[in-house]
Amino acid sequence: MSKILFADLGAQPIPNNFLSADKLRAPEVYYPLRAMLDTETRLVQLETPLPREAIFHDDYPYFSSQSTTFLKHAEMYAHEMIERFHPKNVVEVGGNDGYLLQYFKAAGISVLNYEPCTSVAAAAEAKGIPTYPGFFGSDTRVRMNDLMIANNVLAHVPDLDDFVSGFREALAPEGVATFEFPHLLNLIQQNQFDTIYHEHYSYLSLMAVTKLFMKHGLRVFDVQELSVHGGSLRVFACHMDAHHVPTQGVVDVIHHEMEFGLHEDKVYESFAEKVRATKRELLDLLIILKRERYSIVGYGAPAKGNTLLNYCGIGSDFLDFVVDTTPAKQGMYLPGSRIPVKHPAALAEARPNYVLILPWNFKDEIMGKLAHIRDWGGKFIVPIPKPEVI
Ligand code: TMP
Repeated sequence: MSKILFADLGAQPIPNNFLSADKLRAPEVYYPLRAMLDTETRLVQLETPLPREAIFHDDYPYFSSQSTTFLKHAEMYAHEMIERFHPKNVVEVGGNDGYLLQYFKAAGISVLNYEPCTSVAAAAEAKGIPTYPGFFGSDTRVRMNDLMIANNVLAHVPDLDDFVSGFREALAPEGVATFEFPHLLNLIQQNQFDTIYHEHYSYLSLMAVTKLFMKHGLRVFDVQELSVHGGSLRVFACHMDAHHVPTQGVVDVIHHEMEFGLHEDKVYESFAEKVRATKRELLDLLIILKRERYSIVGYGAPAKGNTLLNYCGIGSDFLDFVVDTTPAKQGMYLPGSRIPVKHPAALAEARPNYVLILPWNFKDEIMGKLAHIRDWGGKFIVPIPKPEVI
């Protein structure tokens, strides 16, 4: 087994550990942030994984319901699954604030959420979604589930072997498990290096996931390519001997990955330089704008924004502040860069010349919502795949 460096983002604080004002005078812990390819399993993973409790804690501030694009995506998924598989009971692992299970519940289906972060678990309970306040793993006792969901969770799990074998144990004989995760192919092609942060232990391709599932007695029988989060895969898995018929889609996506070279090492080795080049390009742009005395504000305080800002060394010297719709983030400071986070109303008051969109995965939704910045001549900057003024 050998490992190859995929990306080196230096040392960074945990990206969703926002700072309250009273912490600004205290030191902050920085952890190495390097992603490596394992040439055998084809998994790209962090070299120094942190304990999950350090990341998914009771003040976890990411509420999945903050984006209407994402809610629509969740609703469509629920309707599709109900129509295709007719589940009687559904378990979601990492179901956050109930953004997805609410649609199954509305259809009269029995639901259970596994959510270790009490901040978001409480929001799920408030929607009437029964929520078990813990991590899911092979020691979990739920059994015989028709549909098990881990959407945007597989990448967040430090012990994949334990997690996947837990799914095998908990799935009914003809049950279906679906996993959504950002596709490594897009990460590389679209230069989405800022999605590398301590919360994401793994960066996944279908070939790596297929191997991993096989090792634990699960079979991939379908896959869909989705546009969410910069391009994701939705993988459908079942027990080896279940009757779900494999689709052509699985062959097609693996073929696509091989055409791009994900089974070889070259594309991984060349990524690190692309990351460095993007940093220089973004800084070039921001330095020119600041020299001209333009004001710049950030929109959104996503975890990926913190990777980007901390890796590039962008602080209040470039961005006056950022705004975010999440109440739990407002009034706080970004980890590392310590840029203040404000309510979106602050934007119209400040009338900045430029708005840097940090959650570029929602850029259409955000640019639609912020069309009024054009009234004062404001422009957008989108940093990824390459810094661009719109
Ligand atoms: P994500 O890119 O990791 O999903 O995080 C999105 C962040 O952006 C989250 O903090 C919510 C925030 N956000 C807004 O503040 N306004 C918006 O319109 C959208 C779509 C997201």
